[in-house]
Amino acid sequence: MRKIIIAGNWKMHKTQAESKEFLQGFLPELENTPDEREVVLCVPFTDLAVVSQNLHGSRVRLGAQNVHWEDSGAYTGEISGSMLKEIGTSYVIVGHSERRQYFCETDETVNLRLKAAQNHNLIPILCVGETKAQRDAKKTENVIINQLKQDLVDIDLTKLVVAYEPIWAIGTGDTCEAKEANRVIGLIRAQLDHPDVSIQYGGSVKPGNVDEIMAQPEIDGALVGGASLEPASFARIVNYQ
Ligand code: PGA
Repeated sequence: MRKIIIAGNWKMHKTQAESKEFLQGFLPELENTPDEREVVLCVPFTDLAVVSQNLHGSRVRLGAQNVHWEDSGAYTGEISGSMLKEIGTSYVIVGHSERRQYFCETDETVNLRLKAAQNHNLIPILCVGETKAQRDAKKTENVIINQLKQDLVDIDLTKLVVAYEPIWAIGTGDTCEAKEANRVIGLIRAQLDHPDVSIQYGGSVKPGNVDEIMAQPEIDGALVGGASLEPASFARIVNYQ
């Protein structure tokens, strides 16, 4: 079943001490958050254990930002699904545009990582989205449908979250208009043709625009970068109206 999922993506931010401080400010803000909203924090690998310990039975679910396709081996700098699972991770971001852009992630490796996540009972959050140049060239739909086709080969759609993240809207303050995000997410939903997949919007989601974004019928949640780093701002997003 489609669920509302609000996930923070801390990217390469916060030491262990800083993550503890964040939780002290953030957790008390969840007292009145409607039960059906899933709240996720996707933190750097070094923060996973400390965040897990400091959630103190709260409703927040732990997420990582990448996973390797092998269970173990000579893959310097990588991390496996069993390592993530052991410390209480439930979600993992796969194929974020920063991974694709700066670390040569391809649709083929994204597919392998998605499979590994599902094999370890981690719910992958698959990121797809177009660049500014692709949008200007009217290639948005093609780009996204191609990503979905290649990334989702042999993937179980009942254990998957997709995030539509137009690359030109990430970290730029330049949010995609809510109606346009809704339209593209509708296309993604039609392409997946499965009633269970939650599809998030990501790209400059902030306290000031979250209400409008979440009012769109196709949008099941948000993947939030910059605005998830401050307890008050992420709490306002989670408690959108
Ligand atoms: P942003 O990042 O909210 O800072 O634009 C979103 C993301 O990259 O997931």
